[in-house]
Amino acid sequence: MNTLIHVRSPSPDDLNAIVAINRKSLPENYPVSYFIDLIRTWKTTSCVAEYDGKVVGYVILRLEADKSHFFRNEKYSRGHIISVAVLERARRLGIGSKMMVDVIDKTRKVGGIKSIELEVRESNVGAIQMYINFGFIKSKLLQKYYADGEAAVLMRLDL
Ligand SMILES: CC(C)(COP(=O)(O)OP(=O)(O)OC[C@H]1O[C@@H](n2cnc3c(N)ncnc32)[C@H](O)[C@@H]1OP(=O)(O)O)[C@@H](O)C(=O)NCCC(=O)NCCS
Repeated sequence: MNTLIHVRSPSPDDLNAIVAINRKSLPENYPVSYFIDLIRTWKTTSCVAEYDGKVVGYVILRLEADKSHFFRNEKYSRGHIISVAVLERARRLGIGSKMMVDVIDKTRKVGGIKSIELEVRESNVGAIQMYINFGFIKSKLLQKYYADGEAAVLMRLDL
């Protein structure tokens, strides 16, 4: 089954697929211009997954500097997973996990990155379980984080 799954870096040609997967899978829908910028800037730490030749999932991971050191020109110290999704018809086939392996591996190789963080809805038990499987821990509850009032769990993986 896994031979049908191919994980690779995103290209500008993947924009429409990524936006469509985002719209179908998550209430957090970013503007197309934001995705264009993310794909261009963070292609080396992000990925898409093809299943049977079609793009069915993506992970966008941005590198960030520690805010307290921002004005001292600190290099990136943290990865931040901005968005993750797999089309419903392709879930529970290991695609999300394969993409997580890819972005964690690429972030480790950057050097100097101490952790990867992400926010996830408190009710999203499936995604939370996937992150726990990779060693992420729940580090904080962010009350009313989402537009509809739901809390986010801030999760962190120390590299
Ligand atoms: C979260 C998501 C990306 C997982 O993608 P996926 O390709 O289905 O993930 P995998 O098949 O690799 O699953 C890995 C593990 O995560 C856990 N998991 C994933 N979905 C789950 C669910 N619905 N319920 C319980 N556990 C789940 C399981 O431990 C699973 O392993 P298993 O199938 O051997 O039991 C996918 O469900 C999705 O796109 N959801 C909608 C968008 C979303 O919630 N994104 C995350 C926002 S922070």
